[in-house]
Amino acid sequence: MNMRHPLLHNTDTGAAAATQFPILAQRVNGQPLAYLDNAATTQTPRAVLDAMREFETHDRANIHRGVHTLSQRATDAFELARAQVKRFVGASQAHELVFTSGTTDALNLVAQGLSLGLEGRAVLGPGDEIIVSGLEHHANLVPWQQAARRTGATLRILLPDAKGQLDEDALARLLSPHTQVFALTACSNASGERPPYEALLALASEAGALTVLDAAQAVSHGAIDLQTLACDFMAFSAHKMYGPMGMGALVGRRSALERLTPLRFGGDMVQSVSFAEAVFAELPARLEGGTPNVAGAVGLAAAVAYLESIGHSAIEAHLSDLRQHAVQGLSQIDGITVLSPHCNASAIVSFVVDGVHPHDIGTLLDARGIAVRTGHHCAQPLLDHLGLGPTTRASFAVYNTHEEVDRLLAGVTHAIGVLR
Ligand code: ALA
Repeated sequence: MNMRHPLLHNTDTGAAAATQFPILAQRVNGQPLAYLDNAATTQTPRAVLDAMREFETHDRANIHRGVHTLSQRATDAFELARAQVKRFVGASQAHELVFTSGTTDALNLVAQGLSLGLEGRAVLGPGDEIIVSGLEHHANLVPWQQAARRTGATLRILLPDAKGQLDEDALARLLSPHTQVFALTACSNASGERPPYEALLALASEAGALTVLDAAQAVSHGAIDLQTLACDFMAFSAHKMYGPMGMGALVGRRSALERLTPLRFGGDMVQSVSFAEAVFAELPARLEGGTPNVAGAVGLAAAVAYLESIGHSAIEAHLSDLRQHAVQGLSQIDGITVLSPHCNASAIVSFVVDGVHPHDIGTLLDARGIAVRTGHHCAQPLLDHLGLGPTTRASFAVYNTHEEVDRLLAGVTHAIGVLR
């Protein structure tokens, strides 16, 4: 653990946070901002903003296309970013990383890429089965619904139990020789549940399925090592790991990525073109048609460096402490049900209050400068399945403090007093 990191161990963490993250220095509704909506998007440190500004003001040019100096610098920056992000997630020689606009884009690339055949060779077809966990947000469900409709495959859901947990035996019962795909989140954005994804992916892979991991809510704090995971495709977003919006990645086994039909045909994804036909480039270019978000890649790599400067174990310990503090405090408030209270390895705490709508709680918290997300969190089927409806969700990042958790607890208590 990096005990000396100024954010996590300074006597005045709030001041250190405001120095590193300019946006956090402001007051909202007359109060210091307590930004607890990090599962929706984290804020961006100066180190990332500076790296992107440096690229935009010094190196900006189109990549893979020019012999001139700026184009070569930009190409180098883009490919260096790819290498840095690959290393961060433990990619080996057998893996490749494709830049995308985010997790949703990456998951659509997988689901559509397996469904749209290239010259009649789609991976998915009638009689095939796709298993998706019931913990997923819409981005890891709706693309699979569409894939099933388009190809005639059957969609099966691995439902969580009443506590919101996934079970290996339940997955074993669903798997069959027809299972082509198993898609799972590394952490539910709506409940904070952290499923045993390592074991579940291994089980599905042993049964012959392609495995898809949505790591959007995990990659910024849980150490994910692709070399130890039975994972064919993994998706994540830069903006949930202190990087820029509109940027993300699909990383996976080369052999699996090669089975995807490109979705964006055009420049930079072809090897040769005639008026009649085209030969596609090798990975990763074949899945990256068009001019990419180069500054975004530079920002994502800077975010990776920022995370590495703190260290996974220090980040995990800090977030787990904050979550446990919040769960303990919320559980003591009359009429509150906390989702997945057992899940310490999570940065998300989601809760419902008897007789009070989350939007009203969120509005009253906002009046105190506290930002949380309320509603279904793009995961309505899960919340319906658990019989809960919309929730209030606080989610933590490296810059959050125990004092902010105390403000959350006081704010929720106050809101319940006003609203009941
Ligand atoms: N998936 C993001 C969230 O959970 C948008 O808020």
